[in-house]
Amino acid sequence: MVKLKRLTLPVMLTVGVMGAGSALAGGVDRAAILANTCAGCHGPDGVSTGPATPSIAGLPEEYFIDVMKMFQEGERRNTIMGRIAKGYTDEEIELMAKYFAKLPHRPAAQKFDPVKAKYGKKLHEKYCEKCHEEGGRVADSSGPLAGQWKPYLQFTLDDFINGHSEVDKKMKKKLSKLIRKEGMDGVRAVLEYYASEQK
Ligand code: HEC
Ligand code: HEC
Repeated sequence: MVKLKRLTLPVMLTVGVMGAGSALAGGVDRAAILANTCAGCHGPDGVSTGPATPSIAGLPEEYFIDVMKMFQEGERRNTIMGRIAKGYTDEEIELMAKYFAKLPHRPAAQKFDPVKAKYGKKLHEKYCEKCHEEGGRVADSSGPLAGQWKPYLQFTLDDFINGHSEVDKKMKKKLSKLIRKEGMDGVRAVLEYYASEQK
């Protein structure tokens, strides 16, 4: 016991000194190493080359943590992410959340129908803007919708609609209302609008 203490003390001191000098750099490095694992699917710096894998650069820290927990618990359905999320501790998820939150969101270069997008803009303003502000550019309660990959958003909404994933109750209400009034064409139009926001 005594021997062990004498061995670990210098190690702790070294770590302490290094920590004082490069606390930030050390944290960022570890986060960068963790985040590297994600690049194969989510792209370098969290900007996905699509189309069914979302960009995760610029996701709000809190949302990132929530969503990783939801994957762990199966509240948000996805086989791949469910398995991946389970492999990380709370601390590691927090580090990655901070890391990705600081990276800039870059809108996906994707095709869209300009006529539908124009109609979708109106629907967005009526049903969605309240929470997804500035045409879905503001990332607050969720990630940015503007410039996110269309197939990913479509699959995610499908999972919300058919109850495979849990979603904010008020959001579900608005989405149901949109579908009731405008049908699935209305949903598709809104997604064309988000795809059209490439600046
Ligand atoms: C094998 C491919 C793959 C790898 C590797 C991967 N992901 Fe994912 N990730 C996906 C897919 C596909 C989705 C979309 C899931 C869905 O439909 O909800 C996703 C979704 C997410 C989301 C939700 C995004 C949003 O806007 O709600 C987050 C956060 C995320 N991944 C984080 C990570 C992190 C962190 C890592 C690395 C530790 C990682 N992923 C590694 C494929 C992957
Ligand atoms: C009352 C607030 C609110 C309204 C209104 C709302 N949303 Fe949401 N939305 C949220 C929240 C909160 C989330 C994060 C997911 C969760 O945890 O429930 C979200 C998530 C999403 C996502 C998934 C984002 C991602 O990165 O995975 C999409 C897509 C979406 N909303 C589209 C819409 C559309 C389309 C409308 C309009 C029909 C809408 N939302 C209206 C609050 C809202």
